[in-house]
Amino acid sequence: MITNLPRVVADRTAPPVEPAGPDHPMRVVTRQVAFEPGGWTDERRARVADLFDGLAPEWHTRDHPGRDQPLLDALDRGGPFPEPATALEIGSGTGMATGRLAERFTRVVALDLAFEMLRRAPADQAPRVQADADALPLPNLSVDVAVLVNALLFPAELDRILTPAGRLVWVNTRGPHTPIHLSADDVATAMPGRWDGVAAEAGPGTWCVLRRAAQAEPPAQA
Ligand SMILES: C[S@@+](CC[C@H](N)C(=O)[O-])C[C@H]1O[C@@H](n2cnc3c(N)ncnc32)[C@H](O)[C@@H]1O
Repeated sequence: MITNLPRVVADRTAPPVEPAGPDHPMRVVTRQVAFEPGGWTDERRARVADLFDGLAPEWHTRDHPGRDQPLLDALDRGGPFPEPATALEIGSGTGMATGRLAERFTRVVALDLAFEMLRRAPADQAPRVQADADALPLPNLSVDVAVLVNALLFPAELDRILTPAGRLVWVNTRGPHTPIHLSADDVATAMPGRWDGVAAEAGPGTWCVLRRAAQAEPPAQA
């Protein structure tokens, strides 16, 4: 079950010039990757990597007032988070969110498919790893907190690498106007098994923090 928290951070930003809707090509990819087996193909991987390699030089222009607000609200109100915690930021891009995570978690690893995005991320915030989130170079149950800011959701891999008490932090910096957007219910539905959590709007964005639902105790033997 997802509990929606009241908004505590007002949205004082202008609406995006080009809000993304359900037909946006990246939204279509987002939903296929999250919900359709086989939604991520070699061809699609290559095209997405090329796309973001090409966008990397101007990615800093995508920064906007209030961009940090949903992530900060998620970290403030989405916990408690495991401590100490190894956090993996998936689709970390040029590192716009990585510094915030480094302030909050014991260890942070920034991972992205696109070399040109990673290359522009500050080297002193977190180790940077070029990899595909559909085939994470990490052992099972090795990550306490997975953070995705406007990043594609690969449910099976997230389920594999998150510890039993692990947390999944999902942030859309422009809420439903973000091209790579899923609602909190969508994220919970896409993940294998049952996931509970909290969600909210904050500034111009939305977030949710999910964890595996507690297993019911088996009935006591008479
Ligand atoms: C919309 S950008 C967001 C970047 C950053 N989180 C931000 O908010 O500025 C999506 C990022 O996900 C990366 N990405 C796309 N597919 C990926 C995959 N399969 N594995 C890892 N990263 C991926 C892209 O290269 C890009 O840097």
